[in-house]
Amino acid sequence: MSEKDHIAGALLEWFEQHGRKDLPWQTNRTPYRVWISEIMLQQTQVSTVIPFYERFMTQLPTVEELAAATEDSVLHLWTGLGYYARARNLHRCAKQVCASHKGVFPSDRAGLEALPGIGRSTAGAILSLAMDTRAPILDGNVKRVLARYHAVAGWPGQRVVSDTLWSHAENHTPQKRVADYTQAIMDLGATCCTRSRPICEQCPLKRGCAACAQGRQSDFPGRKPRKPIPLKQRWLAVVTRPPGEVLLQKRSDSGIWGGLWAPPEFETASTAEAWIANTLSLKAERCRIDEPFHHTFTHFKLEAHLVRAQCAANHPETIDVKSDVDHLQWFAFHPLPSVGLPAPIVRLLARLGNENPQRSN
Ligand code: ADE
Repeated sequence: MSEKDHIAGALLEWFEQHGRKDLPWQTNRTPYRVWISEIMLQQTQVSTVIPFYERFMTQLPTVEELAAATEDSVLHLWTGLGYYARARNLHRCAKQVCASHKGVFPSDRAGLEALPGIGRSTAGAILSLAMDTRAPILDGNVKRVLARYHAVAGWPGQRVVSDTLWSHAENHTPQKRVADYTQAIMDLGATCCTRSRPICEQCPLKRGCAACAQGRQSDFPGRKPRKPIPLKQRWLAVVTRPPGEVLLQKRSDSGIWGGLWAPPEFETASTAEAWIANTLSLKAERCRIDEPFHHTFTHFKLEAHLVRAQCAANHPETIDVKSDVDHLQWFAFHPLPSVGLPAPIVRLLARLGNENPQRSN
């Protein structure tokens, strides 16, 4: 048996006994269902994704329903998953599939990769898992399996390293049972060839694995060169009014919270206070600064100071905020609105809501 056949054969045999076969996206494997699962799984673990996936599929079971949904409702379904550009691209992609492909996903790599948010690996997953078409994938788990098996040195974010891994992925992908093979190599990376403490004794690829033979599993894949992550300080204008409402602003599409609703953000305390004073005709002395909260993103750490101000319920300027121009809107704390909210803002609103408990009548 050739080396290539050894890998696919050994993985397929292992899959029969040890592969995962009851993940929600493995039943009724349509391109739509596989696509949504792959986008959710890009930066998020299976156990976190499952409830989000099920809720998403219940609310938006078809590409047509996703295309017709509002951006706010799509971002709401994504609240808590992070990396919100994924959700905005998902929505754009669904619209494009409906407008340009009559709601049917293209069945070739180039057609899929032309869609927003679909790269080579996601295209490969859709082709192999949902269309039974031979195509390699190279997600994080597969990169680790192949980097170890072939002792490919270097960080896969570098072009030469990724090209080498893609060519191994291409060579190993079998002609038959491509869906099982694709799921098997991802599952091996997730359950056996794990980042720390891989269980090599149980690995079907142990016989040919270069990293295992050299006892250098932890050297592969090479790590991203680490830069210290910067601290960004921001001031959030947290304006509330009785009986329990807060003023939020929809962020523009760019940026880490693009499309989500959050208190208006400023680079200094004084600009936040001036904004509150101008927009709401409140005296800056009415503002007080609360303890900041912290949130760590991939590329920076956020320290968000809260510039708090309370409006009177009947304060005229608070009623007619310039919602079209500034994308401002008052929202009740209870229940939280069905729009996209960053997870730390959900926590903040829960805290503010407890200071303004809902009156029962
Ligand atoms: N990670 C990416 N795609 C996956 C899948 N289909 N099953 C499990 N984990 C995955």
